[in-house]
Amino acid sequence: MRDNRTKPAATKPMLAAAVKAARSAGELMQRNLHAAKKVTEAVQHDIKLELDVRCQKRIGRLLLTAYPEIALLGEEGVDGDPESHYRWVVDPIDGTVNYAYGIPHACVSIALQARTRPDQPTKNAPVDFQTLIGVVYDPFREEMWTAMRGQPARLNGRTTRVSQRANLNEAVISLGFAKHEDGLRKMLPQFQQLVPRVRKIRIMGSAALDLVYVASGRMDAYLEAGVRLWDIAAGGLIVECAGGDFRWRLVSGGTLFQVVASNGKLNRQLQNFFQ
Ligand code: IPD
Repeated sequence: MRDNRTKPAATKPMLAAAVKAARSAGELMQRNLHAAKKVTEAVQHDIKLELDVRCQKRIGRLLLTAYPEIALLGEEGVDGDPESHYRWVVDPIDGTVNYAYGIPHACVSIALQARTRPDQPTKNAPVDFQTLIGVVYDPFREEMWTAMRGQPARLNGRTTRVSQRANLNEAVISLGFAKHEDGLRKMLPQFQQLVPRVRKIRIMGSAALDLVYVASGRMDAYLEAGVRLWDIAAGGLIVECAGGDFRWRLVSGGTLFQVVASNGKLNRQLQNFFQ
């Protein structure tokens, strides 16, 4: 099972299951965008909603029914056997603060990862898992990004590619301002350095959408100093499958990462980021 499942033909039904789950959670998000929302936790730079949990439950029900042997690691908790060879990595609502305030810029993010063999470390992967499938769904624009490792990235079924812009002064770069003080402290100097050098800086509030916007050439790069695995696992693969570059480095706790994603042409100009 282990080896077959990593082949595209075998991962296709898993992609279909992830797409179905993303649509189902997206439908709940869509329906409740302007409804009064129950806040379950609020700190200075972050909010958690009861809807986050409901969306993850929907996703979990569908994925665990289809694949009971695959664990689920989500922003809202873990389900299934933590020792399993595969895991779904789920952010039920990425861009929760946007969503809580009624801003229709948020999405569902689902990745499927497989454990790497200790004797075969994966290039450029700071975790013991490799992402095989990525699905990011924006229910407000009905945009579904999908990728399977080794295949072209797709947006609503059509191949999608990163931009060709090679000069920083033409680039639109998205920055993520995390909820942690440490991340904020690291991002502010980057913001100051980049603002005068690029065409525009954007701070959109959804890491997964930032990544797929890079994958589709709408933006040229996305940078963040402290972002969680479930925000970036699916989008990172989608960037790579769209011809871009996704660099991530573990910061702490096994799930917090620094990320530099780009169209691959701006790498040299962004190489000092986070040094
Ligand atoms: C957040 C968003 C935001 C990013 C934060 C994330 P959440 O995810 O992706 O853009 O800057 O680091 O935590 O909490 O909305 O799922």
